[in-house]
Amino acid sequence: MPAELVCFEASCRASYPITEVIYTCPRCGGLLEVISREPLPDPAELRQLWRSRRLSNSPLDQSGVWRYRELLAFLEDYSPVVSLGEGNTPVLEAPRAARWAGLDRLAFKHQGFNPTGSFKDNGMTCGVAQAIRLGMRRVACVSTGNTSASMAAYASAAGLQPIVFIPHGNIAFGKLAQALEYGAITFQVEANFDQILALVRVLAEQLGIYLLNSINPFRIEGQKTIMVELLDQRDWRVPDWIVLPGGNLGNTAAFGKGLRELLAAGLIPRLPRLAVIQAEGAAPFYELFRRGEGKLEAVRNPETLATAIRIGDPVSWPKALHEVRTTNGLVEKVSEQEIADAKAIIGQCGIGCEPASAATLAGIRKLRQSGVIAPDDDVVAVLTGHLLKDPDYIHRYHTSDLRTPSGQRLVSRYANPPRVVPCDPDKLAGLLEELRSE
Ligand code: F0G
Repeated sequence: MPAELVCFEASCRASYPITEVIYTCPRCGGLLEVISREPLPDPAELRQLWRSRRLSNSPLDQSGVWRYRELLAFLEDYSPVVSLGEGNTPVLEAPRAARWAGLDRLAFKHQGFNPTGSFKDNGMTCGVAQAIRLGMRRVACVSTGNTSASMAAYASAAGLQPIVFIPHGNIAFGKLAQALEYGAITFQVEANFDQILALVRVLAEQLGIYLLNSINPFRIEGQKTIMVELLDQRDWRVPDWIVLPGGNLGNTAAFGKGLRELLAAGLIPRLPRLAVIQAEGAAPFYELFRRGEGKLEAVRNPETLATAIRIGDPVSWPKALHEVRTTNGLVEKVSEQEIADAKAIIGQCGIGCEPASAATLAGIRKLRQSGVIAPDDDVVAVLTGHLLKDPDYIHRYHTSDLRTPSGQRLVSRYANPPRVVPCDPDKLAGLLEELRSE
């Protein structure tokens, strides 16, 4: 077998066959990672091969994940792969956001352009391929919304039965709508994400249902290609910083692994620094990083309007901590007001994103103000989800009715409210004259 499952804990490193249905190390309880023993072609050859696949019409080559399959060497053949055209997300220059944050330049890698509107699709195509390869018929996840949307789509496309568990009343409507429309059995559980995950981990094992949360190491494999595609799009020029929001910390783990593998393969000469941004009300990883030692202490009742990252007990923290340290990175936290402001600015760029994604720009601004990021640093922020995931937040913001979970009204500094007008051409002409922008 070309690849195996290996315990992430440095003191253990036990290895298991790639076809074993396990999510944590049976010996020590550590997280697992996929390790490939397959030698890679030389970097020039790989770059050429990956570039040439962009001209191919084969679905495997067109996928922005499977195009890089030399780094995903866990299948014997590609017959279990179901692609919905994931990846291939743009890198967008955003001068207005750069100015607002105090940078000369800023680019967004926008994962919201994925088939179900978030970065989860990059990982899900791999997770579902592994489920099929293992002969599983039912798949499940606990989700703050995007994982469930993505899993529902990929499982249904593959003919598997998707089962989704979400915190009742605390996911954005766009995401719930997707799970329903893609045909997932959907349970709205009266508990928070962390509580439901603990429940479902036990349930999945008892019932033989394959778990597709980011604790699943095959999801991480797919998500690491976000970094590979980004570097490919930049002709392998390494940025100074890659900034991303942190929730359950699977993406931080994936980005770090991807970057380390690129370095080891000789595809990049150095690592960029990872900056992980959390919401103030759900920032256990920030606290751990600040303390600098010990284990993560869970936040019992995480609260943030950025519901995607409303997570108090992130499972992937050991991997994420390793990756942040390896890249000489850091963790920052931002307030609800800072997220709301940043989100409106990203909208004004004509780009837009969901609230959790906007934590990146809020974090960059804060790190610029404290001098950690320099004005001429080369910064890429990863926008994780599409603007239309959470239209309720947007409507409330622009009608100055957005309140924090504790009921405090946020300032809608960049509000652009809809205007109710009479059906009267003269009045409308007058109003448009008043509102003319230079
Ligand atoms: N941004 C968005 C839009 C997300 O949906 C998530 C996670 C994150 C950021 C954080 O990523 O967990 O890898 O640190 N959403 C998960 C879900 C938890 O269930 O959809 P992370």
